[in-house]
This record gives sequence, structure tokens and C-alpha cells, in this order.
Amino acid sequence: MDSLFAQRVKRARRSVLRELLKLSERPGIISFAGGLPDPETFPRQILAEIAVDEILNNYKKSLQYTTTEGKRPLRAALIDWLAQDGLHYDMDQVVITTASQQGLDLVAKTFFDPGDAVFMSLPTYLGAIQAFRALEAELVGVPLLEDGMDLDALEEAISRARAAGHRPKLVYVVPDFQNPTGITWSHKKREGLLEIAAREDLVVVEDMPYRKLRYTGEHRPPVAALDEEGRVLVLFTFSKVLAAGLRLGAMAGPRELIDKIVTMKQATDLCTSSLTQRIAARFMLEHDLSAHVRRLCSHYRVKRDAMLQALEQYMPKAEGISWTRPEGGLFLWVRLPEAVDAEQMLRRALEHRVAFVIGAPFFVDGSGRNTMRLCFSKASLEEIEEGIRRLGRVVEEELAGLPTTQKL
Ligand SMILES: Cc1ncc(COP(=O)(O)O)c(C=O)c1O
Repeated sequence: MDSLFAQRVKRARRSVLRELLKLSERPGIISFAGGLPDPETFPRQILAEIAVDEILNNYKKSLQYTTTEGKRPLRAALIDWLAQDGLHYDMDQVVITTASQQGLDLVAKTFFDPGDAVFMSLPTYLGAIQAFRALEAELVGVPLLEDGMDLDALEEAISRARAAGHRPKLVYVVPDFQNPTGITWSHKKREGLLEIAAREDLVVVEDMPYRKLRYTGEHRPPVAALDEEGRVLVLFTFSKVLAAGLRLGAMAGPRELIDKIVTMKQATDLCTSSLTQRIAARFMLEHDLSAHVRRLCSHYRVKRDAMLQALEQYMPKAEGISWTRPEGGLFLWVRLPEAVDAEQMLRRALEHRVAFVIGAPFFVDGSGRNTMRLCFSKASLEEIEEGIRRLGRVVEEELAGLPTTQKL
């Protein structure tokens, strides 16, 4: 039977991370691992009322197939939503997707022949790594600095990839409150990326699931809003601003690119669920999504602050330990001394009944063993304080256990 699988399936590995996440779900463990929104924020009463009404009274539309591009009322509502951010699209420039993970899969199917190069930051979103790897793209890592990707390193990486026979096709970025680091790109870096993309004739994929979750700091325009050439594809999702279980998102961008994406989507699932599209469209038309997002921001800001404060209080003050201070999103990122192996440390952490996500799987070049991602959205304030207290002890024990030459 094994010989029947495609080469890419044989090469695919089960994600270590998913296995480790299972361990973190055991009872009694305070988990900062999964990147999940707080379920208490899902507007379930409103969603339930709309869903019942749609199923009983609008079943000819809501329980029927729809077009591959997606329902017009939802696309129209999204066009207005994106316009608040300086992004202006016509109806044929937007396709509804089964959340942004499908967007990433469609990007891979639309652009990559085996060996084509995609440039992504070190670290980057794991789901993008998996989607692009599945289509046998050459994943090229570029260091991520405090204000965005190292653009000099990007240019060098493009030249190197070309010299090695890989066709540079695309840069994948999450410029706002990135998963996993929480880092936000500066305005200058956004412009710089577009200059390189124009020079090298690359498509930019701007993934923005956390963009509206800004708690502090100044507004930055989306990369796509600065794009004058039509080379940016935007991925939007309802997962973090409404409900992840709706599995609903959208892609927007230049007509000719969206047209090809729609063709690939036809073969993938014909269309995204009519029911969830109707529910989201009615939520946007009949309720106030902006007000809901403002409430989310107040809710998550308190949690972010609690985690930052707890880290100040409980993390050992040792050289080589640092963490990001994200202005939004759901994550922060901790760097430990080089000699610490976060995967080993996770086992110790689970004994202390606290869990995090190890950083290494987010790096396409195999680095990042001394890093970890902490998600602050789902734990309660009490759990955040207690969990970080436990984590501080774990790190202390880990440092104490290092050979003396590596102790810092
Ligand atoms: C950067 C990024 N892109 C895409 C996704 C996928 O989200 P969804 O498929 O729910 O839209 C996530 C989920 O955490 C993410 O962090």
C-alpha cells in the first residue's frame, strides 16, 4: 500500500507540534500553547439566532451550493470592511475562502511548481510552511528583525535561490502581530518589501488574521494599501474577529490573480459553506463588527498586559533571555539562552503543569531550538499569573542544569 502514496506524502512528516499540543491538553495543565481565540468572545447568541433563521426561513439559499467566488452580500460587506483600512477592491477582486488556511493552500496550488522559491521569515506561521511544503516549494528563510524582515538578507536570499536554480515566485508575510512572534513591521519595511517585489517580479502574500487586534501603538497601513503595481494578495479571516469555527475568510487582490485562485478553488471544494457565508454577511450587515472588535481588543489587551507583567516578575534575569512586547495579536515570543533546548524544557514544564509551544517548527532552516511561543488569549488572568510563575521556575531549573561552561 505504501508504494501507492505520492512522493510528497511519503516525504511529509507528522507535525511534532501537534503531538506536543496533545500533551498540553491534559487536565490541570495551564496551557499557553494552542493559538486559540477565547471562546467566551464568540457572539454565540447572535450567531445562533441568525443561524436558526437562515436554516428555517432562507434554506433555499443557505443550505444550497453557491458560487465558487462566494456570496455577493458577504463580498460586498468585506469590500466595505477592507476599505476602512485603505484597501479598495471591486467584486471580482474578492473570493471567499474556507478561512485563510485554504487561502494558503490555494496560493500554493496557483503559484508553485516543484522547486519554486518562496521567501518567508525566520520564524513564520507553521500552517503556511505546511501548505507550501505540500506543493513542493523551496522554502527559503529570511531573518526577522524587530521591525520586520531583514530586507538586505531577503535580496541576498533571492539571488542565492536564483543561482541555485530555484525560480523566485513569492514572499509570504504576516506584517501585523505575527504568528508566532507578535512582531509588527514598520512602515519603511512595508515600502521596502514592495520595492524588492517590483524589482524581482515577485508576488507578495500578506496574511492579516490579527491586523484588527491592535491594543497599543500607532496604526500602520497594510502592505497592500501601499501597492501601486498590483502584486499583493491579501488573506483575510473571520477566525480571530468573529468565530474560528465558521471556517470563513477571503482573498483579495489583482483581478488576474484572483481569477486563477478561483479556478483552483473550484477543484478544491466547489464553494465555501453557504450557511456560514450567510451568517457572517448578516452579522456584518445587521450588527456592528467594528464594535465587536473593539470589545475584543479591550479583552485581549488586559491579558497581554498581565502576561508581560508576569514575565517581568517571574522570569529569571539572566543574559540571553528576552521576549517580544507585541502591540496586538495573541502571541508573544521568548528567546532563551542558546544552550537551552525548548523541547527538552517542555517536558520539564509539563511536569510543572504549564505548557507552551516550542519555537523550532516555525523555522524553515531548522534553527530556533532555544525559542518558544506563548499565547495569552485563552488563559484566564489568574492562570496567566500562575502559569508564568511556574514557567519562570522551569526556566530557572533549566539554567541551573546547564553545564557550567554554558551557564550564563
Ligand atoms: C498567520 C496565520 N495565518 C493563517 C491562519 C489560519 O487561520 P484560519 O484558517 O482559521 O483563517 C492562522 C491561524 O492561527 C495564522 O496565525
